[in-house]
Amino acid sequence: MAWCGLDFGTSNSTLGLADGNAARLAPLEGDEVTLPSALFFDAETDEPVFGREAIAAYVEGNEGRLMRSLKSALGSELIEEETRLQGRKIRFEEAIGLLLGRMKLKGEAAAGTRLDSVVQGRPVHFVDDDESADRDAEDMLADILRQTGFRQVSFQYEPIAAALHYESTLAGEELAVIADIGGGTSDFSVVRLDPSRAGRGDRADDILATDGVRVGGTDIDRLASLASIMPELGYGHVVRDDGLKSPVGLYHDFATWATINFLYTPSVLTSVGDMKRAARDPIPFERMETALVQRLGHWLALRSEAAKIQLSEVKDTRIDLGRIEPGLGVWLDRGQLGRAIDRSIERVGDTLSRCVAMAGTRPERIDSLVLTGGSALLPMVRDALARRLPDARLVDADHFGAIGLGLALEARRRYG
Ligand SMILES: Nc1ncnc2c1ncn2[C@@H]1O[C@H](COP(=O)(O)OP(=O)(O)OP(=O)(O)O)[C@@H](O)[C@H]1O
Ligand SMILES: [Mg+2]
Repeated sequence: MAWCGLDFGTSNSTLGLADGNAARLAPLEGDEVTLPSALFFDAETDEPVFGREAIAAYVEGNEGRLMRSLKSALGSELIEEETRLQGRKIRFEEAIGLLLGRMKLKGEAAAGTRLDSVVQGRPVHFVDDDESADRDAEDMLADILRQTGFRQVSFQYEPIAAALHYESTLAGEELAVIADIGGGTSDFSVVRLDPSRAGRGDRADDILATDGVRVGGTDIDRLASLASIMPELGYGHVVRDDGLKSPVGLYHDFATWATINFLYTPSVLTSVGDMKRAARDPIPFERMETALVQRLGHWLALRSEAAKIQLSEVKDTRIDLGRIEPGLGVWLDRGQLGRAIDRSIERVGDTLSRCVAMAGTRPERIDSLVLTGGSALLPMVRDALARRLPDARLVDADHFGAIGLGLALEARRRYG
């Protein structure tokens, strides 16, 4: 029997194993050590497929339902919602259990033994400013893990896990801020790192502060979509003579990974049809009808996410919307994206500054700013964080693996 660290992420998940002094990530999909946190339920077979395979099945147009951003439902009212499949309904809780169960099996295959103890990573806040919802989220995740067969379940903050892994690569002492900018949340910890203290049991004295905010890459995808794609589908258009505009909530939900499936109902289609008839320009609403009928919500979100990622490399990019209407496309450039996400990124920066203040230190005392999480690859995010700590050395940790590896080190310490 063995132990593992599990990083169940909003967008990507990993499972870390520790043996001897080294930690490694288990292959979860072919040779890949990351598994996109996605499931696709095929309407014909009613069997779930996972990860890249799930996204591919959906993009190829198979009949069925894609579920992504499952973690965002923890601690929110979404957790009670059901996604309708052919003959039955599936709740987020069940979908999370299937995904984590799949990871456990893959981890056991890699470890060559049963895994019965887990350190599960968690954001500093699943939910902002609501301690009871936050506790509910952790309790539910613990229950799901027990149902998948883990006997011992404990938690560690994701940025602390990343800190423990980063520490294992250091030669000397430093005061670091770990910034984990993921798909759903941005989390920080201010830690005193020293490899010679790594083996010690309780490191509470070295963890000076942790803080986090529920802003991440999936929010950036939504804001990018609202700034570029959704206006082509009627967002912001006038639908009545008195100047009333199309409902913001509809487009907000259609651009949000976790809520897309709930819009595939007859009543939503009817209300879009009403707007089409009332609007001066019916064409955008015709496109919205097409997107709903053909269930293109996740496809649009994937286009938005891909454009965002491209803007890490290039200055502008064309988002092809040809599945909605032949030849349709929109341009998005870095300036537009920057304006759309500016306020959200400021909130992330404010959280970093608050965390440093909570640690009882000053920004100029911080030696290094260690970046992990996929969204820390976005230049605007990096710049915004670096501005808060102008004297710190900028270090890129393993953006997709550091947390799973750190959780595995912690699992060995706790259970080994
Ligand atoms: N090159 C890139 N530029 C910008 N964003 C990127 C890049 N690569 C990945 N991302 C974004 O990073 C996010 C996923 O990061 P990560 O895997 O760290 O999140 P997660 O661990 O699943 O989420 P969380 O920790 O918040 O639960 C996604 O929103 C993805 O679009
Ligand atoms: Mg993460």
